[in-house]
Amino acid sequence: IKKIGVMTSGGDSPGMNAAIRSVVRTCAYYKIECAGIYRGYEGMIEGDFIELNARSVKGIINKGGTFLKSARSKQFMTKEGRQKAYDALKAANIDALVVIGGDGTFTGALIFNKEFGFPIMGIPGTIDNDIAGTTHTLGYDTALNNAVEVIDKIRDTASSHNRLFFVEVMGRDVGHIALNVGVGAGAEEILIPEEDLGLERLLESLKRSKESGKSSSIVIVAEGDKTGKNVFELKDYVNEHLPEYDVRVSVLGHMQRGGSPSCFDRVLASRMGVKAVESLLDGKSNLMVGLINDKIAVTPLSKAIKGQSKINKELIRVSDIMTT
Ligand code: F6P
Repeated sequence: IKKIGVMTSGGDSPGMNAAIRSVVRTCAYYKIECAGIYRGYEGMIEGDFIELNARSVKGIINKGGTFLKSARSKQFMTKEGRQKAYDALKAANIDALVVIGGDGTFTGALIFNKEFGFPIMGIPGTIDNDIAGTTHTLGYDTALNNAVEVIDKIRDTASSHNRLFFVEVMGRDVGHIALNVGVGAGAEEILIPEEDLGLERLLESLKRSKESGKSSSIVIVAEGDKTGKNVFELKDYVNEHLPEYDVRVSVLGHMQRGGSPSCFDRVLASRMGVKAVESLLDGKSNLMVGLINDKIAVTPLSKAIKGQSKINKELIRVSDIMTT
């Protein structure tokens, strides 16, 4: 392998820049070339590449987002699009790839490898933490910190007005963000897709909390929650059944995905980048780099996307005890 291409694809996440930096610098360390691919598979198809050296990635370890930009490509889902991407890579003498992204990115990578035998390593970059083969995806820790910081602020105003807040957090179909920020911010209840405890329980818990003398409450709702009601409908539902509550809603949205990556994400990105490049140089392919028991380990990409990332049930119990 003489030249590695690196790209970010799918929803961006804090720590992607730090991962690109690590890939580029590891290439420089082993004296091989590195090319950045703009806008994920879209840029790959168009041959939108940039030569990167160790100095090109200075000053980015602390920056949120991804300077290579990201996209979700429809074209790459077609055989024709993938052929164009292959031709563009060959024309630029790129002979291996490090792809940083989530589920969709890895699925595309596997198909591409099957068709063209192109060596590929994956780095999990998504705030949702919904990838198997790693306890932490890149950006997840920062997203937790972003969310907790804002929920602390919401608590200030909630308690000044004796209010109940429903706070929606991201996470697509999984509740990792909700569960962790719920415990971290001391939420009254946490609604996640993995455990549908029903709306009755919510009402019971809110009643109990009023009786126990609590004047304000925060309920964290994962965006993929399956109660069948979104945060605004939950507000109406509580208004109807517990009119003594003054309810407000806050949807945190994309702020969770931005900002400077936490130290944890920067270190993780640096470790993952090194392992991804070294694996390619060792002749490996179709693997994802992950963190397991605090060690960097690799998992087949096929397992990473098919395997379910498991919710931490212990946290559910801890949250129950904390709201006594
Ligand atoms: O996958 C990351 C994520 O932020 C999810 O939590 C969320 O459901 C989705 O992306 C939002 O996507 P978009 O940025 O396209 O609105």
